[in-house]
Amino acid sequence: MNLDSLRLRPATPTLEEGLSYGHYLVDAAPGFRYTLGRRAAETIAEAYLRPDHNLSYEHVTFAELDGLIVGVGAGYTTEQHRRSVDGGLARAIHVQTRPRRMRAASIAKWLRYFGPESDTEFYVWLLAVSEEYRRHGVGSLLMDHLEKCAREAGSTHFSLDTDPKNERARNFYEHRGMSVESGWPTLPLVPRMVVRMSKSLGGDGHGA
Ligand SMILES: CC(C)(COP(=O)(O)OP(=O)(O)OC[C@H]1O[C@@H](n2cnc3c(N)ncnc32)[C@H](O)[C@@H]1OP(=O)(O)O)[C@@H](O)C(=O)NCCC(=O)NCCS
Repeated sequence: MNLDSLRLRPATPTLEEGLSYGHYLVDAAPGFRYTLGRRAAETIAEAYLRPDHNLSYEHVTFAELDGLIVGVGAGYTTEQHRRSVDGGLARAIHVQTRPRRMRAASIAKWLRYFGPESDTEFYVWLLAVSEEYRRHGVGSLLMDHLEKCAREAGSTHFSLDTDPKNERARNFYEHRGMSVESGWPTLPLVPRMVVRMSKSLGGDGHGA
């Protein structure tokens, strides 16, 4: 596979890109399908189009090969997460009917968990590469980019959540210097649904 023309680019607020983002997100985190239903990707696309919240296009970078989106990375700082939780997140999920409104409220609550915890952290919200393009370095390029964004934002910690059963992703993150720091839920005898992995970015987080 020739990836010479692969490029990373910031997302733009178009419905087509929003749908692409929505499909990647639903595939990487099936919880969205359970919570938002059959039209989960479309609902996420509506949210993607709006600024200033966690699901917004503003935090998204696409990997593109000859005009085709082959991967996506998204992440935000602690400050951006807090602004999102306090403000736009619940509003951002497009809702028209009562059942969808109730599901949106529950997902907004759930999304509060998925974010940075310390004051100077950068949280990777989504990393996914189309199956046929995996193991060619696309995920690494996206992670390099997200780490660069984190350093430029002054973050000193880099973190994400992953499914403990997703061995490929876990190995990938471990090879990038990340390690498991905690898990959720924390109840005794209840299997962990997600583990939080992190690494220090060193220094004061300024400069690439
Ligand atoms: C996890 C994921 C994003 C990795 O993306 P990717 O594009 O395959 O990542 P890379 O190709 O950069 O690296 C993957 C592996 O291939 C290896 N690799 C990279 N380029 C390679 C090449 N040209 N030839 C052979 N191997 C290669 C890397 O060394 C890496 O090995 P490691 O995992 O043992 O460290 C991808 O598997 C994915 O989208 N999974 C589904 C969604 C998901 O689980 N996301 C994470 C949720 S938290």
